[in-house]
Amino acid sequence: MKELFGTLADGTQVHRWSLENGGTRLKVLSYGGIVQGLEVPDRDGRYANVCLGFDSIEEYVDSSPYFGALIGRYGNRIAKGAFTLDGERHQLSVDDGENSLHGGAQGFDRRVWDVEPFTDGTDVGLRLSYTSADGEMGYPGTLEVQVTYTLTRHGDWRIDYEAGTDRATVVNLTNHVYWNLGGEGTGTVEDHELTIAASRYTPTDPGLIPTGELAQVSGTPFDFREAKPIGRDLRAGHPQQVFAKGYDHNWVLDKGVTSEPEHVATLRDPSSGRTLRISTVEPGLQFYSGNFLDGTLTGTGGRTYRQGDALCLETQHFPDAPNHPSFPSTVLRPEQTYRTTTVHSFGA
Ligand code: GLA
Repeated sequence: MKELFGTLADGTQVHRWSLENGGTRLKVLSYGGIVQGLEVPDRDGRYANVCLGFDSIEEYVDSSPYFGALIGRYGNRIAKGAFTLDGERHQLSVDDGENSLHGGAQGFDRRVWDVEPFTDGTDVGLRLSYTSADGEMGYPGTLEVQVTYTLTRHGDWRIDYEAGTDRATVVNLTNHVYWNLGGEGTGTVEDHELTIAASRYTPTDPGLIPTGELAQVSGTPFDFREAKPIGRDLRAGHPQQVFAKGYDHNWVLDKGVTSEPEHVATLRDPSSGRTLRISTVEPGLQFYSGNFLDGTLTGTGGRTYRQGDALCLETQHFPDAPNHPSFPSTVLRPEQTYRTTTVHSFGA
């Protein structure tokens, strides 16, 4: 189902698409490819919307910290918003202190996408497309992007990203859903149990730019190899947590880059019984513990969002990879096609 969600200041209409399959209900906006709602049942079959969002387009435009949005051209930070590729230096839009975050000031989360619904066997979904002009936000190359949101008959939400360029560039696409498996607006996620299949993470400087080191999680608050409530070590006083006001780091997934999605993380809410399993082809996962939610935003359910009321699990290549030759490469050349897939599976 397609309905009018709102109108942007320039008169562009923003639509909302609703789809349902395998027990999962998804609401997507043409603005930012935003997942505005995602409902799944708990262990007693009761549905709740498990992602943070807003009721109006104005709130998304004015104050959204990337709720549910597609992120591009580059998920997470690029130091000083600059990198050199094939000997040419590129200056990007700087929107996070001295750094570029999530594609710059007008990233993919703030663009209006073309949306086409489809049915494919037992799958239903949406194809979102957007062409990013050469030089947009400082990135080289015209980038043709297609993102497919699929709901499978098992209720999995699968994201397939594809992009091509006419000039060498860097790309790192992800999605920025804020999860609260108890239901958005129900308070803290500190009791959610998280598992991440990663023995290492990328420590950062105070501006959250990776230092380049791949540090062991063993013996630190960053060890999520066994299921652990997020709150258990959240106040452990580790210097890395002080920079981030909690967790806001990239985990180096043990499996590395894979051609097929592999299971890398599980989130479980003990009170509702809801679980989320994430599989991806990506080598990294940014776990962000909702540190910057500060009680100033009111969500779809009419409740205030405070620090730690949700968390993000963003599958990705590593932050600032364009400035770290030792990190898996994010370079895309005209003869290549960028492809990446992440699958979210729900249970109770
Ligand atoms: C990502 C970043 C965080 C923060 C959030 C949005 O997770 O790593 O630092 O910017 O997005 O607030």
